[in-house]
Amino acid sequence: MQVIIVDTPEEAGRVAAEEVAKVIRRVGPGVVLGVATGSSPLTTYEALVDIVRSEQLDLSQASAFALDEYVNFPVDHEQSYTETIRRTVTEPLALDPARVHLPDGLADDLAAAGAAYEQAIREAGGIDVQIMGTGSNGHIGFNEPGSSFASRTRPVKLAAQTREDNARFFDSIDEVPEQAMSQGLGTILDTRTVVLIATGEGKADAVAGIVEGPVTAMVPGSILQFHPDATLVIDAEAASKLQHLELTRDLRK
Ligand code: GLP
Repeated sequence: MQVIIVDTPEEAGRVAAEEVAKVIRRVGPGVVLGVATGSSPLTTYEALVDIVRSEQLDLSQASAFALDEYVNFPVDHEQSYTETIRRTVTEPLALDPARVHLPDGLADDLAAAGAAYEQAIREAGGIDVQIMGTGSNGHIGFNEPGSSFASRTRPVKLAAQTREDNARFFDSIDEVPEQAMSQGLGTILDTRTVVLIATGEGKADAVAGIVEGPVTAMVPGSILQFHPDATLVIDAEAASKLQHLELTRDLRK
């Protein structure tokens, strides 16, 4: 795992977008993007739009798979992940909406919907680069503490901490869904490249657990220590609880 320390969320976006762009340039028009909601990747999407425009990268055949979606939640609600991804990723990057996929949180059979999502990822050739943030408890996607390292896309319960963190997007915490469909830790481990963005003091414990371990299901992001190509782009606040930065810090910054 490599750690790149930046000064601001905007710089995090520029650095992370460059990591993503390297994959897009290498793979070409059929690139398969892994995309995420949350505030952390927003500056990355913005910077990626700039790179795609200035280099005229062809994303017309690109596809995208989101990490997660709420269960039993209207997909046309502005806080659904379907809407969030449309607003922050699909439209700004001018992706073909038919090639942008989210797990089906409205399916009668959620387990079957999870299996179908895994199948769709496989048929697309697997995810080339996964952009993501982390929850304050170290979750990735909606894989909460205790998630199996072998998990695949499936229905999950949201941790109380996550519902509290996400309450800011709703009028009250009671409106925050209790369940979601999430790619599993096994799904995420299969992606070819991971770029994780985390900024602010609220992510310092999660980042310390993810980078310095121990690898434990209680900090789901710590499984990224087993990922062959994972980069964390973080600011000084998010890095403030790392003890061994001299070993993990990328030499470019
Ligand atoms: C949600 C998403 C995660 C995201 C997390 C952090 O829980 N399911 O994928 O990483 O929010 O959000 P933020 O980046 O806004 O702190």
